[in-house]
Amino acid sequence: MHLIREAQEKDIAGIVIIEDMSFPVPWPDFLFMANLGNPGFIVYEDKKNIVGYAILGTFMDNAHLLSIAVHPEHRKHGIGSFLLKACIGIARCHGYECITLEVREKNLKGQKFYQAHGFKEQEIVPGYYLEDNAVRMYLKI
Ligand SMILES: CC(C)(COP(=O)(O)OP(=O)(O)OC[C@H]1O[C@@H](n2cnc3c(N)ncnc32)[C@H](O)[C@@H]1OP(=O)(O)O)[C@@H](O)C(=O)NCCC(=O)NCCS
Repeated sequence: MHLIREAQEKDIAGIVIIEDMSFPVPWPDFLFMANLGNPGFIVYEDKKNIVGYAILGTFMDNAHLLSIAVHPEHRKHGIGSFLLKACIGIARCHGYECITLEVREKNLKGQKFYQAHGFKEQEIVPGYYLEDNAVRMYLKI
């Protein structure tokens, strides 16, 4: 049994495990806690385990994808795409016409993933991650 649903406090430990395995500078748990209650903070649950999450910021002029990650053992099964499509649906429901995001310039797989979903490169943001530039991308929805 698998489902996508809004994140709850009990999910944070599982999310942090995925985060630590997915990013060179992982978010600490309090940043996830601060996003509880945001309808764009969603998890993918598989047999009661959290195997992926995404956070869409719905409080800015544009909907902004703050983060998305899937547990390494569960990648390449469509879960990331499922989460991203859910975020796009949430943005539409909130009346947004565009989603923006930043991805590390060195994260070519991440950029390819977004391009496959129609995102286009907008600009390079030098030093966005201090030790790495960001590619800012957008999707008109
Ligand atoms: C980017 C990320 C979220 C993608 O998650 P995912 O669950 O692997 O995504 P999907 O499975 O939907 O798609 C990934 C690939 O698997 C392929 N795929 C999907 N379902 C498949 C299946 N059943 N069989 C074979 N391949 C499949 C997709 O076509 C895609 O192929 P591509 O890499 O050639 O484009 C994941 O790799 C991740 O967590 N990376 C680390 C964090 C990160 O970089 N986040 C994004 C930048 S912030």
